[in-house]
Amino acid sequence: MNYSLTEEQLVVQEAAREFTQKELLPGVIERDRDMIYPKEQVRTMGELGFLGMMVNPKYGGGGMDTLSYVVAMEEISKVDSSVSVIMSVNNSLVCWGLEEYGTEEQKEKYLTKLATGEYIGAFCLSEPGAGSDATSQKTTAIDKGDHYLLNGTKNWITNGGTSQVHLVMAQSDQEKGHRGVNALIVDTSWEGVTIGAKEDKLGIRASDTHTIMYNDVKVPKENRLGKEGFGFKFAMKTLSGGRIGIAAQALGIAAGSLELATKYAQERETFGKPIYKHQAVGFKLADMETQIEAARMLVYRAAQMKDKGLDYTVASSMAKFYAAETAMKAAVEAVQIHGGYGYVKEYHVERLMRDAKITQIYEGTSEIQQMVISRNILKDNLYEPILF
Ligand code: CAA
Repeated sequence: MNYSLTEEQLVVQEAAREFTQKELLPGVIERDRDMIYPKEQVRTMGELGFLGMMVNPKYGGGGMDTLSYVVAMEEISKVDSSVSVIMSVNNSLVCWGLEEYGTEEQKEKYLTKLATGEYIGAFCLSEPGAGSDATSQKTTAIDKGDHYLLNGTKNWITNGGTSQVHLVMAQSDQEKGHRGVNALIVDTSWEGVTIGAKEDKLGIRASDTHTIMYNDVKVPKENRLGKEGFGFKFAMKTLSGGRIGIAAQALGIAAGSLELATKYAQERETFGKPIYKHQAVGFKLADMETQIEAARMLVYRAAQMKDKGLDYTVASSMAKFYAAETAMKAAVEAVQIHGGYGYVKEYHVERLMRDAKITQIYEGTSEIQQMVISRNILKDNLYEPILF
């Protein structure tokens, strides 16, 4: 199907493909195996404009639409999701959040550096006791007049050890519940910010995931994003866009799995013919292709709704939910089609399978997306019975 990508979007797709083949494919197995952060590759991404794709050029960004970002995420994720998660968090959680809700001074000071890759950002919402149940924030930001005093622990923080800027959600007024949460811009060089050990993960192993401790960190009032108490809504609104990025990542993993499985099924022969000619394999490829096309439509639709200024919260949850489930299924089938070769690192599909799993977990688990989607059906009474 032709999704009518524009000339500009096709150029972005081609540039992402070239970057992926030249810079990401070499060494991807070793970086994953040894948990090596892709420092050079991230630097090149900054130079190529992949770290602030949607940011207004006046702040150093590419001024592109969400679909261009999605197309780039998909290509990069076919090969290296450790790199694409770094890209996704910086683009759609940190840069977008700052551009949408930051003051002019905040944008000048932070966004200009984040959009070019001079700085890398992290989004600090999850806590040991507040993952899916994100309103249960225990990190505190106590009002001290001209500053907040920040204390607490955040975990599973992508870019945790390599970022210069954290967007931290913290409770300033316990009695107000989620309406007492503030979103704060924290410079990681400030006193009291401690980076915990790097997590040894199942997948996206080259990306940088840490627990962060904040101990009496003084955050100036001018570093609050939005009005007092806007922090939880800031996180939710930002995550709605973030989920489009992760949906695109999942789509890339699924498409990469299909590309590798199709290639292998043409090369590998059993019982006197290439294995794709066996119905058992051909039908697996057919299922993968169908589900990937359906996922692509949902992901592109969510991106286009965002670009048109429509409410995209449910569309992004649907895209992430379906694309993540598709990535997992496609990657498992790609391993199965490869047989024993699929079980070793050299053939890439076992890495795609491990990487696929996280897309069902971060930026809201599949079950959280189902919650958002199902609540919307009931809230708007979308399916009022007309026959009975
Ligand atoms: N936009 C704006 N406001 C929203 C919103 C949205 N999309 N979703 C919820 N809200 C508002 C609600 O209107 C409500 O506000 P009011 O009470 O003032 O009306 C408030 O937020 C609380 O909402 P709920 O009552 O629905 O809260 P809940 O506790 O029942 O559920 C949830 C909320 C949707 C489940 C939410 O907790 C959630 O999304 N959880 C998952 C958290 C998550 O995605 N974490 C990802 C971490 S970041 C990450 O993974 C990045 C990385 O490193 C890759």
